[in-house]
Amino acid sequence: MVILGLHDNHGASAALLVDGKVVAAVEEERFTRLKMDSGFPKMAIDYLRGQYKEEFRNLDYVAIGCVYQSLKDFATKRYPLFGIKDFLIEEEKFWIPVLEGKNPNYMDVMKEYVNSSLCHYPLDTIKNPSNHNEIRKIRQTFIAEYLNIPIEKVGFVDHHACHAHHAYFSSPLRKDVLIFTIDGWGDFTNATVHSVEKNGELKCLYRTENCHIGHVYRFITMLLGMKPAEHEYKVMGLAAYAKEHYIREPLKVFEQTYYVDGLEFKIGTPIKNHYQYFKKRLEGFRFDAIAGAVQRYTENMLVQWVKNWVEHTGFSNVVFSGGLALNIKASKRISELPQIKDMFVCMASGDESLSIGAAQKKWVDLAGAAELQPITAPYLGPGFDEKDIKEALTHPFVRDHYKIIEKISLVDIAKLLVRGEIVAFMMSNMEFGPRALGHRSILADPRDEKIVRVINEAIKNRDFWMPFTPSILEERAEDYLINPKKLKAPYMTMAFDATQKAKDELKAAIHPYDMTLRPQVVMKKYSPRYHALIREFECLTGVGGLLNTSFNIHGKPIVRKPIDAIREVISHELVDLKYVVLDDVLLEKNMARKQKTIIKQEQLAEL
Ligand SMILES: [Fe+2]
Repeated sequence: MVILGLHDNHGASAALLVDGKVVAAVEEERFTRLKMDSGFPKMAIDYLRGQYKEEFRNLDYVAIGCVYQSLKDFATKRYPLFGIKDFLIEEEKFWIPVLEGKNPNYMDVMKEYVNSSLCHYPLDTIKNPSNHNEIRKIRQTFIAEYLNIPIEKVGFVDHHACHAHHAYFSSPLRKDVLIFTIDGWGDFTNATVHSVEKNGELKCLYRTENCHIGHVYRFITMLLGMKPAEHEYKVMGLAAYAKEHYIREPLKVFEQTYYVDGLEFKIGTPIKNHYQYFKKRLEGFRFDAIAGAVQRYTENMLVQWVKNWVEHTGFSNVVFSGGLALNIKASKRISELPQIKDMFVCMASGDESLSIGAAQKKWVDLAGAAELQPITAPYLGPGFDEKDIKEALTHPFVRDHYKIIEKISLVDIAKLLVRGEIVAFMMSNMEFGPRALGHRSILADPRDEKIVRVINEAIKNRDFWMPFTPSILEERAEDYLINPKKLKAPYMTMAFDATQKAKDELKAAIHPYDMTLRPQVVMKKYSPRYHALIREFECLTGVGGLLNTSFNIHGKPIVRKPIDAIREVISHELVDLKYVVLDDVLLEKNMARKQKTIIKQEQLAEL
């Protein structure tokens, strides 16, 4: 049986599930190069169709994650295209009039942002913009026609059911499991709890629209001058610097809004407009205090809620998904609860994984849970071949600025890293989800904290307060992580306190203030070449980890093909990247311009 899963809003994506196994999944942004691109995922589908021709001829079902989508998202692509100022204009032109009891028409007041062809769907044919069923029908009809299949084979899966299925069927936990999903909003819901039935299927125990933590976090992100629904992780990173006495007062503002009562979220103060509400009440507090307070509030709420559910059900293993699961500090505190035995956070807990979750849920509906295989590795995206490498090597910028060294060995890459060089490393199929996990990564020696400044300034243009993260050999995880419950952390979705050894050896890849780290524990079984590279580095230094940050420039998606790396990162005027590895080809920045040299492996030692 073949099921295609799709998601067509923020983080649009496509996933293919064949005979119980997710064989491929990719986000639209990786092709369009627009971060968190939204709308019908045309290029992701075209890629999968090109790779899996036979399977596409025999599609049994197309499962679309999220039943209801709003016209304003499709007509403006607001999440990927809006900057902070655009969200503020939206606030002024649309949301404040709504607060005042007026009834503004979004398409009219935001008309300069509306482009009905942005998302591929024929939006001009919509008669009643507020009719959700009409929008749903347009999506369904368009997708059936695009794939040339009967409309009966195209259906929708509830947003949070997708989150829950992806969370559970991408985790190794199977017994006594509770699945929590929390996000900003999806299908009139912002939090659910599921358990697992004897037949392996999920059962929804709780569903609410009163858990507005995601909303609150989103508007605080905007209030702090960062992009909502994208830069929440920066607020979380900043929160670690907030002094306890600064947090106390702003925390009270949050605590008056929503609270946990037993198994439920309750509303303390009804809020019509979150942005205006918090803007008024938080004025005068320091930026770091606000960040610290919203983070503390989020952690307290989630910890209390999860604890209550675990005690109520007696199920002590937890999986967590939805946008809030990206908050690793909250996950860390949940995982430390004495009531919890084990916890797992999937590789992509945001909406980009709704395509995978939709396919998984539909599989369970049609074939049961028994034959649905858990996802064990994140490398579900496109790869690249010799032709792609050649395309990059013949780019004028590469010809003018780089030497080309063929058949580079992992030992030689490790030697560069030991020498203090920063190496961009691309190989094989790319990762699904927001984290680069060694196949599209920029790597460095984690021992020297000075390298953080070099990467921030010369390559990534990252915010100065954001920490880097390490990839750690699975055999060395105990050396670096304080992890008494032996939680699995293959996707950089869990945080741990650092051991003294980590503080000594991985200085540049831990949070410099609170001394936590968000590791990728690299398993030889799922990424043998990346594992082998870290092993070579360990042989030379004794350190079993590397600093790993995603191979992209700030604000752009992770690079997909070598040519993306050249066009967007390497040739960027603000970037100074000396070494790039494309599979087994090394590009080394040439100090003498306009000089092309091809050097064989045996000559490398003389360089
Ligand atoms: Fe969601």
